[in-house]
Amino acid sequence: MKKLLATNDNSPTLFNEKFQEAYHSTTGAITEAIEKFVKPSLNLLRKKELNVLDFCFGLGYNTAALLQSVENTKISVIGLENDADIFEKIQQLNPDLKYYEYIKKLKNNYHVKKDFFEIKIILGDARDTVKTLQEKFDFVFFDPFSTKKCPELWTEEVFRDVFKIMSEKSILTTYTCSRFVRENMRNAGFHVIDGPCVGRKSPSTICIKE
Ligand SMILES: C[S@@+](CC[C@H](N)C(=O)[O-])C[C@H]1O[C@@H](n2cnc3c(N)ncnc32)[C@H](O)[C@@H]1O
Repeated sequence: MKKLLATNDNSPTLFNEKFQEAYHSTTGAITEAIEKFVKPSLNLLRKKELNVLDFCFGLGYNTAALLQSVENTKISVIGLENDADIFEKIQQLNPDLKYYEYIKKLKNNYHVKKDFFEIKIILGDARDTVKTLQEKFDFVFFDPFSTKKCPELWTEEVFRDVFKIMSEKSILTTYTCSRFVRENMRNAGFHVIDGPCVGRKSPSTICIKE
């Protein structure tokens, strides 16, 4: 079961009853996507072609926010998600995101292509599907439920698997600044720095593969 929720920037999100957690911070779902994931990535790396791994695709806000933030850039996104039902549920959402209609179209065959972007969803447990990827990614939007609700996705092993498939100077962004998560990131090989503070005192986290 997933209930519709409004967040403080007026953008909608969902509340997942099984995990007892919302898909976004109450500060603002779109604000979170733009400020914690998209801007820190684009501030550190701009390329004519970007390969993006959306790790825990959910409602697809991080991908949609990226699409409207670039110009003259070809974007290829792979989204990892284990809940096929979410692609039904997002049909009721109308966030103010320019290309969201294409995110909704993913429900048909988990693939959409437009002139400057392509998105493919791989359904399954991200801990397994991440091991099957052959591409090299420039950006990783790392966005599981919290460390309390989903500890299995914040491990050193997962970060090692992600590190392997990232290109040189690539960027991973995530919302938490948890000490044990940062420790796992460093052990996996990342250079870890503070991301922006958005709607709270603590920063998000940016990982750079140097
Ligand atoms: C915080 S939400 C993601 C929000 C999303 N990035 C967005 O912008 O809307 C976490 C997502 O992780 C998914 N998830 C939970 N466990 C997973 C797993 N083991 N493998 C893949 N996806 C998982 C959930 O179904 C949920 O959609």
